[in-house]
Amino acid sequence: MEYLNSLVKMATNYCVSFSFISNKKVLHLGLWLIWLCGFLLIALSFYATQMLPSSFMDQMRNPQFIIQSSLAVSGGPTIDIFTAPRPFVGIVGERQGLAVRSWLGLSAKITVVLFSQEPSVFSFADSVGSRVLVEPNIDFTFLGTPFFHSMVARSQTSSSDIIVLIDPDIVLMPDIIPSLAHAHKLDQDWLLYASPKNTSHLSFSFDGDGKQFMEMDEKSIKVPKEFATQSRLERSCEIISILAWNNGDVPLHKGNLPPFLFGKGIHYHWIVTEALSSDFRFVFDASWTISSLILDNPGHLGYGYHHSVEAPKASTSESNSWESIGNSHLAMLYGTMYFHEAKLPNLFRSVECGGTFAFVNSALDTVYILDRRYLLSLRHTGPFTFVSRRKISDCINILEQDKRNDIYVLKDLLKLPAAVSLPFTLEHLLSLRADGNRTIVLAVAANSYKEMLMSWACRLHHLQISNYLVCALDEEIYEFSVSQGLPVFKYDHAPANISSDDCHFGTECFQRVSKTKSRVVLLILKLGFNVLMSDVDIYWFKNPLPLLSAFGPSVLVAQSDEFKITGPINLPRRLNSGFYYAHSDGVTIAGLEKVVAHAAKSNLSEQPSFYDVLCGEGGFNRLGDNRCFEPETNLSVYFLDRDLFPNGAYQDLWAENDVKATCIKKGCYILHNNWISGKEKKLERQVTSGLWEYDSSYRMCLQVWQERRFTNYF
Ligand SMILES: *[C@@H]1O[C@H](CO)[C@@H](O)[C@H](O)[C@H]1NC(C)=O
Ligand SMILES: *[C@@H]1O[C@H](CO)[C@@H](O)[C@H](O)[C@H]1NC(C)=O
Ligand SMILES: *[C@@H]1O[C@H](CO)[C@@H](O)[C@H](O)[C@H]1NC(C)=O
Ligand SMILES: *[C@@H]1O[C@H](CO)[C@@H](O)[C@H](O)[C@H]1NC(C)=O
Ligand SMILES: *[C@@H]1O[C@H](CO)[C@@H](O)[C@H](O)[C@H]1NC(C)=O
Repeated sequence: MEYLNSLVKMATNYCVSFSFISNKKVLHLGLWLIWLCGFLLIALSFYATQMLPSSFMDQMRNPQFIIQSSLAVSGGPTIDIFTAPRPFVGIVGERQGLAVRSWLGLSAKITVVLFSQEPSVFSFADSVGSRVLVEPNIDFTFLGTPFFHSMVARSQTSSSDIIVLIDPDIVLMPDIIPSLAHAHKLDQDWLLYASPKNTSHLSFSFDGDGKQFMEMDEKSIKVPKEFATQSRLERSCEIISILAWNNGDVPLHKGNLPPFLFGKGIHYHWIVTEALSSDFRFVFDASWTISSLILDNPGHLGYGYHHSVEAPKASTSESNSWESIGNSHLAMLYGTMYFHEAKLPNLFRSVECGGTFAFVNSALDTVYILDRRYLLSLRHTGPFTFVSRRKISDCINILEQDKRNDIYVLKDLLKLPAAVSLPFTLEHLLSLRADGNRTIVLAVAANSYKEMLMSWACRLHHLQISNYLVCALDEEIYEFSVSQGLPVFKYDHAPANISSDDCHFGTECFQRVSKTKSRVVLLILKLGFNVLMSDVDIYWFKNPLPLLSAFGPSVLVAQSDEFKITGPINLPRRLNSGFYYAHSDGVTIAGLEKVVAHAAKSNLSEQPSFYDVLCGEGGFNRLGDNRCFEPETNLSVYFLDRDLFPNGAYQDLWAENDVKATCIKKGCYILHNNWISGKEKKLERQVTSGLWEYDSSYRMCLQVWQERRFTNYF
């Protein structure tokens, strides 16, 4: 064992020092390094597995295919199996059902947790009984694809002895139980991984609750045919589909998991590689002792998590669909972003060239080719070397450099779009997202407010408000939003230079940004959708839409920015254009067009334009204490009750000891984090008051099952 550990350490050191000796100019290709080291380390770990104590291996090599014998291990460890299924419909649903039943049949001590928000998953869970739970409280993209890092974080809160993460269509055989039971007896923390065998059909099935294998003639069988001639060659070694680890004190790996999407991606591989190089746990390949089958699924590709969303019609190739962007390109993107943040000196990217993995050194115009079979036979052939080198041009037809990040994107080989983008137009997004009243909640954001945007979006998720859209004012926030699974679109006429941290209230930059907001609102109104425009520094306590939509057409409903406790709330320039509801009708559109035209000529932000146009300069269009009427367009303005929609100055609510409790008691719908200068102060105020919903170091929404981590929020 010591020899083995030192081998793995050697490999780790090699990988690390390799990254340091490389020329700084070659940088930013980090994923490469991970792949390179990953293969090396995994190969070594396979070697390690061969060197486990022989009694352990003997036990693991002689799987008991008789189900009763595994159930007999009733004194064994408790096991939680986590996965994220697709909707239980059609053949995909049948196969997932078969897989889940195979897990339940393994042992009475198994609980299955399905990550999903889909009704079909809830009804499936109901139908199979109390050992299958559904967990909807993790991060999903707006199309319903779960985030792997959020799944892992949730699975870490399990109190079972052993945690298993698995793909939803993997059928497990009973030998996993003795394998896990033996691993459970190891005197150190461990992580195992396994690759499934690929099969297109099963010659057996399970009875109703998965308790027994059945042949198609319903006779109980001992060894399924699929395993009679099992050999290593039949396994697809690169595809890891099962991870299991003991619930120990030691984490799986150093650092944070990037926000990978669950699906076909590099996420399992990533964890294994990181775990190996972190050297916290004993990591081994258990593919030999855990028999599992992947049901090769005809309907697998292109079948989204969100079954009501079809890939856009305009898309010509598979590579344009959300799923394939989600599962490969974003994985790559996350990888590089992650390493940018970790400030590793050298980043590589991996590609496939001629069917094998390759590593690119763009400075030397060289691709290093690595043969998979070679790696797998590592222990027979001595030290690790590259099989061959080639010029980049021999491998790649199109090599595109993303100049800004200095990343070489091997477009043709990876079949990925050059830039991350969602294959949806604004019109498409609106029709996907708007609620039954054709209403959309709109946030307009620039990169300097990305944490605020996420906290806001996470809050809306918690309130189960899904009809929102994000308008990105710059490329950075656009890509960030895509990577975080938000429904986002770019506004083509966004002003330049708005990404700086100084773009706060009162600055010239702020004015330019604010003027964009009303233009986007106007655009959406003209497309026939009502808009609730909300700044991202507004905390939502409950859904205001039922109340706001009741005002009907020809009324613009807005927050009042009046700070005095008493008196009229519609005095000059007291309209807050950070939170208003605009109905899509001719009168409202005419009114907003006047506002936009006025703002374009003004040297102030758009907020005074709203008031001066709609309520008249000096307030001569005021009606009573809380309304205005613009006579030329007939647009009415209604100022919202500040007890329900308080601004940041009203009653000094932000200074309360318990802001949240105070606001809830008052019946607030929202609370605006305005009337404070500077982004840092604003963030601090919101975080310390507990009106914060996003963990930016882990890149996920704070969930009910999670300890709130405020120390490192930006
Ligand atoms: C399973 O094998 C088939 C052909 O044998 C192949 O087309 C398919 O991609 C494989 N699936 C997986 C998940 O490896
Ligand atoms: C944006 O910034 C660049 C360089 O900082 C400057 O040259 C350009 O004039 C700015 N554009 C605007 C619209 O301020
Ligand atoms: C849709 O509009 C009706 C009538 O204004 C309102 O009662 C209902 O609450 C609205 N629905 C939502 C989801 O806002
Ligand atoms: C803005 O324009 C007004 C006239 O429309 C002018 O009086 C004022 O000085 C200008 N302010 C700035 C900061 O340019
Ligand atoms: C405003 O309302 C008045 C009275 O109902 C009507 O005569 C006028 O045409 C309206 N103006 C517009 C622009 O709709």
